[in-house]
Amino acid sequence: MDARQLGFSDGTFDFVYERFSLHHMANWECALDEMIRVSSDWILALEPIDDPRNEQKRNTIAAQQLFLDVQHEAGFEHYTHIGSDSLIGAFKCRNLQYEVELQRNDRVIGFDDYFFDFSRFSLATGRPDHWNKQLEALRERLGGGLLCEDDILLIRARKPR
Ligand SMILES: C[S@@+](CC[C@H](N)C(=O)[O-])C[C@H]1O[C@@H](n2cnc3c(N)ncnc32)[C@H](O)[C@@H]1O
Repeated sequence: MDARQLGFSDGTFDFVYERFSLHHMANWECALDEMIRVSSDWILALEPIDDPRNEQKRNTIAAQQLFLDVQHEAGFEHYTHIGSDSLIGAFKCRNLQYEVELQRNDRVIGFDDYFFDFSRFSLATGRPDHWNKQLEALRERLGGGLLCEDDILLIRARKPR
């Protein structure tokens, strides 16, 4: 079901968590509201976070944008990673007690591994040649530079009692 409109009563679950899903939704705050509503106690969110602190991270942000572009044209919902300030701010303004943990991740990934399912989306656009050219242009621009796994922001929250 759509996470922004869950078919569960208020407080159905002790613990509600999402992993890497909010940034796939327009109006992700509605999904957070639903998580809070259907939880009686704990809420946990894990989201990928961008940080251009080194070349691999910057390459990954460029690669992510190409993925978003092709996915957008293919009709697949996926948006730029939510900024940590926005995500933390959303918990703060909802009057939750929360703890934040940032898991930094610098494990590198090769270009082809990162784009292993690119063709699934480029084919779905109906113009795979165009998107394959974009992919090759990015490969050339990055000049063999590596990509990197995402940092993860983990927010553990409790509803006020
Ligand atoms: C990157 S995957 C993460 C999947 C899984 N949570 C994990 O950690 O492996 C993003 C997920 O968000 C889900 N998703 C996207 N929009 C959604 C929505 N509006 N309601 C519920 N789920 C949604 C997709 O179906 C997909 O399973």
